[in-house]
Amino acid sequence: MEDFKALRMEGEDLILLDQRLLPVREEDFICRTVDDVTYAIRDMVVRGAPAIGGTAAYGVYFAAKEAKGDEALFNKLCAKLKGARPTAVNLAWAVDRVARKAMGCAFDLPTIKAEADAIVSEDIAMNLEIGRIGSTLVPPRATILTHCNTGALATCGWGTALGVIKSAWDEDKDIFVYADETRPRLQGARLTAWELVKAGIPSALIPDSAAATLIRDGKIDLVVLGADRIAANGDVANKLGTFALSVICKHYGVPFYSAAPTTTIDFDCPTGAGIPIEERDREEVTHVGSVQVAPDEIGVYNPSFDVTPHQNITGIITEMGVIREPYAMNLAMLRQKLGR
Ligand code: MRU
Repeated sequence: MEDFKALRMEGEDLILLDQRLLPVREEDFICRTVDDVTYAIRDMVVRGAPAIGGTAAYGVYFAAKEAKGDEALFNKLCAKLKGARPTAVNLAWAVDRVARKAMGCAFDLPTIKAEADAIVSEDIAMNLEIGRIGSTLVPPRATILTHCNTGALATCGWGTALGVIKSAWDEDKDIFVYADETRPRLQGARLTAWELVKAGIPSALIPDSAAATLIRDGKIDLVVLGADRIAANGDVANKLGTFALSVICKHYGVPFYSAAPTTTIDFDCPTGAGIPIEERDREEVTHVGSVQVAPDEIGVYNPSFDVTPHQNITGIITEMGVIREPYAMNLAMLRQKLGR
């Protein structure tokens, strides 16, 4: 396992590794209230669907402490947490799960905290299984392209797509990884590159727009990336740029995998058209860090995610196995198995 954690509890404090500062500074951000947690998720101190879910789970614990048995206030605080970011379904899923537990145990704080702990340890276990299963899809000496950050920083530990890459590396597959820088928040450059270097995996960082040429020129054996919400028909919402990669992969016949725990599947959302896509601040595009790169007067369109149609996806790697076409039928069967 890695020697850092995106989130951890120490006593009554939730400690987040402040991802806004990486890779330049490694500093903790301490949360003690629902407002702290909401701010940390919204401002992307912590990000990545499963890490957001784990963080919000402890947010519900803080909500229970703050509400002191006042159910209306508790519900209001949970709604605040759920509203922090709209696309990653792990957020609402985790809040609902811990809130249900809180109601069922008459707001017994140790029971609520234990439920949040369980979400974290289950996520790590799911990621290790995704890594084990996903690694079987990685041929020896494969060159892999990935997008955004899906590693330990984006989860409660190990990672999803980057977990697959790390598992393949741990199995002595002689792999090489290209990481998209992932404009505009640069999760690839700042976070995935940091994790790849720490893990000692041979890799190179590329501008997002170099991916098409690498794929066309036969330099990529497979693409593996994450998901923020998977609809019941297999459409996948993930970091902006995922859809474009899927189109290029389909055109050139390169396998394209999304890796995610089943907690990222929204069985109640029939297709990708129903997935809310977050639009973020204009400054993410007009500035790089604190440096302005565009005129104040320009309009900006900054969707944080896009939706990849299931027809472009070779397989969805979950802890329960690899889901393939026909997605609607196979996901319905998975739903039954999970009892959700
Ligand atoms: O905006 P972010 O950084 O939260 O977006 C993260 C992604 O899109 C990831 O690919 C996704 O959450 C999966 S993380 C295991």
